Amino acid sequence: MLWGPAARLCVLLGAVIVGFGTVAAFGTPGSTTVKQSDAEAIRARVKRAFARPKAIPQPPDNPITPEKVALGERLFNDPRLSSNGKISCASCHDPRLAFTDGVPTGEGVTGRPLKRHTPTLWNLAWARRSLMWDGRSESLELQAKEPIQNPDEMGETLERIVERLSRDPEYKAAFASAFPSDPKVRADNLLKALAAYERTLVSPKTRFDLWVEGDENALTEEEKKGFDLFIGKARCINCHTGFAFTDHSFHDIGLPSEDDLGRGPVVGLERLNFAFKTPGLRELAWTAPYMHDGSMETLEEVIRHYEAGGVDRPTRSREMPSRIDLTDEERQALIAFLYTLSSENPPKPSQEFSLSKRQASLETASGDEKAVATATVSQRNKEFTPGHVVIKRGEVLTILNDDTRTHNVRIYDPRFDFNSGAQEPGETITIALPTTGTFKAFCGIHPNMELTIEVE
Ligand code: HEC
Ligand code: HEC
Repeated sequence: MLWGPAARLCVLLGAVIVGFGTVAAFGTPGSTTVKQSDAEAIRARVKRAFARPKAIPQPPDNPITPEKVALGERLFNDPRLSSNGKISCASCHDPRLAFTDGVPTGEGVTGRPLKRHTPTLWNLAWARRSLMWDGRSESLELQAKEPIQNPDEMGETLERIVERLSRDPEYKAAFASAFPSDPKVRADNLLKALAAYERTLVSPKTRFDLWVEGDENALTEEEKKGFDLFIGKARCINCHTGFAFTDHSFHDIGLPSEDDLGRGPVVGLERLNFAFKTPGLRELAWTAPYMHDGSMETLEEVIRHYEAGGVDRPTRSREMPSRIDLTDEERQALIAFLYTLSSENPPKPSQEFSLSKRQASLETASGDEKAVATATVSQRNKEFTPGHVVIKRGEVLTILNDDTRTHNVRIYDPRFDFNSGAQEPGETITIALPTTGTFKAFCGIHPNMELTIEVE
């Protein structure tokens, strides 16, 4: 049977309402008379929100091709990209360790411990404006410069690398076939190749995916109970959503270490001090230790942290329950569920996407949505609605925070720079755009939220 006691249904429905407002129409929160068929519909729908994508998103100016990916993979594993010839990207993001290094903080050319834990690199093609633990890096192309130039990581300059690789006939040929219309060993091409390779690092299918696809026997009863807890009583779904199990957003989950301010200084908002990016939860079996500071060794430790609610400070996320009461059995079920997101053998990137076929464009968010003539936009459920508006010149745009979360509306544009500051639930902001044209707004806390504004 799919469904346990009615009590479990209510817990599940409660979470559905928090995490997926639009699903709430299916049932009444707190009601004990939810029909079995309704409940199954909800679970089926929640499951669907974790379905695997059909294609890898990519920016229009750096399409994925097999040649570029091959070059990127070679560069990723090459220690000649570092000043002492000993450190490659793979030294810290080891493909045999699910692209991590297995230690709380790694070290590069100087041997000095790095400030933060090395994150895994799964499913970053879906990260928009949210690379690094604090989101300071806008794209994979820009990100790749950082470890190369960081004196404690690879400590090298792009110029010297380009000079070195230009003397290597094999690299010259590889760059030529990866960039046929611009066949040069050049810094921008090098960064593009690394980024294209990284976009192909999609975590492989696991038993959880088979279950989402409809194989009821792919998970045990205990694991399914763990899923119910994940989306229900334990509220993990508040932040760990989608096939990669991340909302690509920033939250303070109350970890005790306070020497690293995280997202706060990057966006200039104290409200976001101690907020770090929600990591994906794929392949956790291979990526311990956990957290931006590498402070937790086991998944049990992680879950006990959430049960206790972490340090209660003003910046702690509203989406963090202040405590969760789990029985030993429930804690074990939740852990068992998390393991269904990991491969049984050391994971290799998924081969389910054809790299020579045209992939989905990264530019699909709000720009493709039909434009609506309105000057009022909602932010409910971490979404700008509508996502694409047309207003008249001189008309003021009103953005209301009718969500349960803090937002931060920003526009970075040479014609107009805007930062709403911390916009708390219930607060409304107005924006007077200076000129006609198209502007893009996004949320500094939930960067996947995008709004296209056309001023006529
Ligand atoms: C010496 C260890 C080390 C090396 C070498 C290294 N990295 Fe990293 N990498 C890290 C650490 C630590 C972070 C997190 C930094 C932060 O958030 O401030 C990181 C973060 C990243 C991220 C962001 C991941 C995310 O979830 O946002 C990407 C992408 C990445 N590295 C790619 C690379 C590439 C490409 C190379 C080689 C050009 C490389 N790294 C070399 C340690 C390393
Ligand atoms: C308020 C949003 C939020 C909620 C709710 C939440 N998480 Fe997290 N999770 C995060 C963030 C943010 C981090 C990284 C924190 C850091 O390193 O400072 C994280 C880190 C983790 C990690 C470590 C992953 C890694 O690679 O380091 C695991 C595992 C995890 N969460 C599981 C869970 C589980 C299980 C639940 C439910 C009991 C849960 N999370 C609830 C936001 C959340």
